Amino acid sequence: MMQRREFVQKGLAGAGALLFSRWPAFAGESGRAEARIEILPEEQLGTISPNIYGHFAENLSGVIYDGMWVGENSKIPNLHGIRKELVDEMRKIKPAVVRFPGGCFADSYDWKDGVGPADKRPKRTNFWAEGEKPDAPVSHKYDPNRFGTNEFAQFCKLVGAEPYLAANVRSLPAEDFYRWVEYCNSPTGSTTLAEMRAGTGSTEPFNVRYWGIGNESWGCGGNFTAQEYAVEFRRYATWVPEYGQKLSFIASGPNDDNWNWTRGFFEEILRKGKEQLRSIYGIALHYYTWNLSRGATKDWVKGKGDALQFDAVDWYELMREGDVMESLIKGHWQVMAEADPEHSVKLVVDEWGPWYRPGSEATPGDQLEQIPTLRDAVLSGLTLDTFNRHPDKVAMANCAQLINCLNSLYLAHEDKFCVTPVGHVFAVYAAHQGGQGLRTIFSVPNINYDRDGKSATFWGLNGAASLQGKQLVLTVVNPDIKNSRETEITIRGASIQSGSATTLTHSDIHAHNTFEQRNVVTPQTKPLEIKGRVLTYTFPPASVAKLTLALA
Ligand code: AHR
Repeated sequence: MMQRREFVQKGLAGAGALLFSRWPAFAGESGRAEARIEILPEEQLGTISPNIYGHFAENLSGVIYDGMWVGENSKIPNLHGIRKELVDEMRKIKPAVVRFPGGCFADSYDWKDGVGPADKRPKRTNFWAEGEKPDAPVSHKYDPNRFGTNEFAQFCKLVGAEPYLAANVRSLPAEDFYRWVEYCNSPTGSTTLAEMRAGTGSTEPFNVRYWGIGNESWGCGGNFTAQEYAVEFRRYATWVPEYGQKLSFIASGPNDDNWNWTRGFFEEILRKGKEQLRSIYGIALHYYTWNLSRGATKDWVKGKGDALQFDAVDWYELMREGDVMESLIKGHWQVMAEADPEHSVKLVVDEWGPWYRPGSEATPGDQLEQIPTLRDAVLSGLTLDTFNRHPDKVAMANCAQLINCLNSLYLAHEDKFCVTPVGHVFAVYAAHQGGQGLRTIFSVPNINYDRDGKSATFWGLNGAASLQGKQLVLTVVNPDIKNSRETEITIRGASIQSGSATTLTHSDIHAHNTFEQRNVVTPQTKPLEIKGRVLTYTFPPASVAKLTLALA
């Protein structure tokens, strides 16, 4: 791998020299740093929706039963049956919205099974039952329905998030969807379902605003074509009772660069007229970073890597694959413009994160569970910054998934619990919520590395900035696993009064937190020394950083 000195010799003569010419205002002010970040407060990108910092909890293996729900009579500290430590941690990250109950599970779920007296609720075969090991907990195979709509609404209330429910389009008629809305939102004493809700402790309506109409409807959600699904969407989203609560419907979208799904969906929607667009709040985009085969295969199983055992190339491969998110956002946005030039419909990236092969579960046997490392924290920072840079396009995003699953913020088993490096990234990045996104120029030499005998490059630093009043937040990812990056940071037209830096990193790129060693990877905050108009900060290797700057 090329070392920093070698880069400076080779790189500065070419691309670097060109990039640095963008720096008329401050070039030469110190002249030392090889990397520069310029923030442009005048060039505002839009308000960063707090919903970009959303979550996803599917009824899948250990996510609900064990992860979130421990039961009211459990010895594990709980609030109405919900794991207390999870609630306490989530309150720290300001979780704007949580999606439930799936994922693929949603299109097999009858919400009526999960309401009414707990001891009368039926047991049903979970959508994910086939993938469970013979010795898996019974609740992972046969859904006891103990955690239903009321419990989820209670959970959201406890953590301070809005609920986002995904409706079943594959196996239930539209009427069931309307009844679910009625159950959740009809006023106290108004309907039989409102009385039923009150009978199990929730007199007040849940006022659920966000409703997904199916999930991955091209696959587990019904194997529809885009056109067939659009017809279903129109039917499900038509004349849904509102009860004074604005309803925002999210259409099922692609999980890659399938522009034809997006185009086909909107073309069919428009066959009934432009006004049909008004019924769509957003179209979903799912994107998992899973193919670490370095271009060798597109096979879903063979292409996956390991969560814990990886080398330098695997690290950069994850970053490269994760970085595709930006082109997917831009690409689908462009296709959406063909039908909706005013962009009344937004993107909802309601599943994202890395997906590795099985074998690294914190609780052996938990399906789709993996232990997030520093690598996943850096990928998560990279992804959140991508959303932060497109606040006009991305209205919501939901990390897959909250606990005991893919890119989990938390791991739990019985009375054991830990916050993963990904959980810490969400805590660090919460400061962007509701901020005004600012255009930010990163003029930074690329990283050069050896990708199995061929030279490869990846960007040196990237990130996002936002402003709230006089507080500016800059988050930066340094994906270079060996080299720190000394960087000059300027804010055009403003000077910095004081500030602090929070970094999340470790000398071992495989570092992760476990039930036994809970604090191996944790963020560290230090005050910044501010001298003059240019702030110089050195981003450590393999790090996620946040600079919080008070402007004069
Ligand atoms: O997050 C796991 C699964 O991935 C979801 O159920 C599905 O929507 C996606 O394919």
